[in-house]
Formats: sequence, structure tokens, C-alpha cells
Amino acid sequence: MGERRNKLNHPHSAVLKMLMKKILTDKEKTKFEIQRKNVTSLYNEVASVYDESFDGKAKYKIPQKLLEIYQKHGITEGKVLDIGCGTGKLRQYLGNNFTYEGVDISSAMIEEVKKRGLKGHVGAIEDIIETFTDKSVDHITALSSLFFIKDWKKLAKEFDRVARKSIFVSLEQFEPEIIEMMKERGISVYNHSASIIKNPTEIIKNVFLWIRPTVKERVPIFGDLVFKKLS
Ligand SMILES: C[S@@+](CC[C@H](N)C(=O)[O-])C[C@H]1O[C@@H](n2cnc3c(N)ncnc32)[C@H](O)[C@@H]1O
Repeated sequence: MGERRNKLNHPHSAVLKMLMKKILTDKEKTKFEIQRKNVTSLYNEVASVYDESFDGKAKYKIPQKLLEIYQKHGITEGKVLDIGCGTGKLRQYLGNNFTYEGVDISSAMIEEVKKRGLKGHVGAIEDIIETFTDKSVDHITALSSLFFIKDWKKLAKEFDRVARKSIFVSLEQFEPEIIEMMKERGISVYNHSASIIKNPTEIIKNVFLWIRPTVKERVPIFGDLVFKKLS
């Protein structure tokens, strides 16, 4: 025991601690890069058929829910920044009083956004959000995309900084089998808590959101919808 304490007090132990910290940070960074690479290639592969394979089959309820919430809270116009926007499909649900731009890590998804004549940014939202100045968009939306993001807490703070009028997110709660299946593909999926959004206006808990369209067993996905009105 005495010998062990001596070892830890040894001047080399500080260097050792620093090295361990660096190894752990590098490990985290590598995990982060792998996640980004695998998510990007998954969505690059499916982008051109995404809408066609999703439409109807997924019984995707979130855009409808967003519209209901906007209506309830008197939101009828403004600039929407859509996070993990996919093909930019959300645009067709919004009225003409809204302007739309999307961010997606998949360049093929952003090509689809551009085919719709919309503005899109390619990149990880964790990086891109930092380029937006304070209160520079009216509404932030994130539909079925935050489960790919580990540090949702940090991103939520950024949403508060960038959005002027409202924030709307879906927080899917996946069954362990789906999380495991994605892990086997080298992708981490996170069931985030709604409590990370401070002072939400409305939380709709544990609602049906969509059905996985690509698997034979039509597994329904449930989750929480969180809306925060800022002004
Ligand atoms: C399930 S799709 C949902 C697409 C769209 N929001 C919708 O409702 O149809 C998830 C999207 O999030 C994107 N994505 C995943 N991680 C991301 C990240 N870190 N930054 C930006 N986009 C990301 C994916 O490329 C994909 O297009």
C-alpha cells in the first residue's frame, strides 16, 4: 500500500496521468469519427430512394405533430433551420410564409435538398451550429436525427442560443434490440431525455412516431416530442 502511494506520488505519475488522459481523449475522438463516417455512408447510400422507401410505409407522424403544435402556439411564419434534415421533406409541410434551410451530415441528402430548390449545408451539426450567430433563425427543428448525437446537452444549449422563436425536437426511444443492431453496424444510437431542454413549453411523452420501413417485422418507434416557445 505504502509502495503504491509512493508510486502515485512519483513525478512520473503526472506524466502517466496525462498520457492516460490523452489516450482516452484520442479513443473518444476515434469513436466520434467512426460514428460520423458510418452515419454518413449509411445515409449517402439511401438518400436517392429515401423518400420513396419511407413514404406511407413508415407512417411518419412527426411533421403532422409539428404542424399541430405550430398551429396551437400561433406560429405561422419564419425562418426554419432543420437539423439532420434528410431530403428536406419537411419543407412541403410548411406553408409559404416559412423559409427553410437544412443541415445534414450526408452530402447525398443535401443534394436531394438542393434538387427541391432549397438551401442546405453539408456537415455535422455539432460543428455547423457554431457558425450560426445568436438568434439568427426563427425556428429550429430536429426530426428523427438527434438519436445519432452523443452530446445532446451541449447541442440543446446551442439551439437556445441560435433560435429566436421556437425549438421542436423528436427524441426517439429505441428498444435495446435496435440499439444493438445499429451498434453492429458501427453506429451508436442514443435515447435522449426530454429533460435536457430547459423550460419546455410542451412535452408530448411516449407517442407513436414511425415504423421502421426497411425491416420485415414492422417495429413501431415511440418517443417524446419537445416544443419550446422562445418569444
Ligand atoms: C432518420 S433521418 C431523418 C431525416 C429527416 N429529418 C426526416 O424527418 O425525414 C436522420 C438524418 O440525420 C442525419 N444526421 C445524422 N447525424 C448527423 C449529424 N451529426 N449532423 C447532421 N446530420 C446528421 C442523417 O444523415 C440523416 O439524414
